[in-house]
Amino acid sequence: MGRRIVTTGRGGTGKTTFTALAAKYLERPILLIDIDPDQSLADMLGVDLEKEGVRTVLDILYDIQKQEGYENLSDMPLPEKIQYLFNTECIYESEEFDLISLGVKWTEGCYCAPNNLIRAIIPKLARNYANTLIDAPAGLEHLNRNVTSEVDDMFIVLDPSMKSLKNIERIQLLAKEVGISYQNFYMVANYRFNDDLEKRIPSRNGAYLGRVDLDTAVEKFNLDGKSLLELPDDSPAAMSVKQILEKAGYQTR
Ligand SMILES: Nc1ncnc2c1ncn2[C@@H]1O[C@H](COP(=O)(O)OP(=O)(O)OP(=O)(O)O)[C@@H](O)[C@H]1O
Ligand SMILES: [Mg+2]
Repeated sequence: MGRRIVTTGRGGTGKTTFTALAAKYLERPILLIDIDPDQSLADMLGVDLEKEGVRTVLDILYDIQKQEGYENLSDMPLPEKIQYLFNTECIYESEEFDLISLGVKWTEGCYCAPNNLIRAIIPKLARNYANTLIDAPAGLEHLNRNVTSEVDDMFIVLDPSMKSLKNIERIQLLAKEVGISYQNFYMVANYRFNDDLEKRIPSRNGAYLGRVDLDTAVEKFNLDGKSLLELPDDSPAAMSVKQILEKAGYQTR
């Protein structure tokens, strides 16, 4: 059974960058799950899902709910239909990693049945990978509702603000409230911290693993639509993330 890793934190702290760089160094095979409605993980990895013909999980659930398309599958029972569409339309596969995106199309109405089915499909799929990395926005409800309630390592990416530091406990409470369990809770400082500010990170909530250094190449790669997997190994952000993973006990490549 592979490890399930979640990156969380407040908006704009560097969660997606951290996830993408972790994907650069963690052992293969890797599954990436983007549950942020912004869907920027694929962008940071230089992948255009639409162009690749890969649909989001919510797209297919929406169509099934609205009974749009898939007439040829009308005789198929719902669980088989969802599994089939998930396998054929929602997984982006490449040599370096596989990726699925939850998507944004949330409308009213009950998705309970399809949701529960997806929630069974994703952990099963994750068993085929050495590492499953989940890029999760600060509200963890989609994580539990749609993806998994069992996490090995939770990484919270902090910015140097009171709000962010308070968010540490809030996330831990929220995880409890929504029923997410994790083995380890790790704190990571983002590129806006300095040595002095780092000392303000409380040690009572988990292990502090270090800072992701400021790296202008990250901005440049993002602007150019270039994959962060191609960031040179000696670039400050890449080196920091590799070290952080090693501190958390991961084998890196
Ligand atoms: N180490 C770094 N050095 C320089 N810039 C960085 C670094 N890490 C992230 N950034 C920049 O900070 C911005 C936010 O990063 P990112 O998108 O990873 O944050 P996020 O927490 O995923 O944001 P959101 O909450 O919107 O999903 C991006 O423009 C990114 O290029
Ligand atoms: Mg993000």
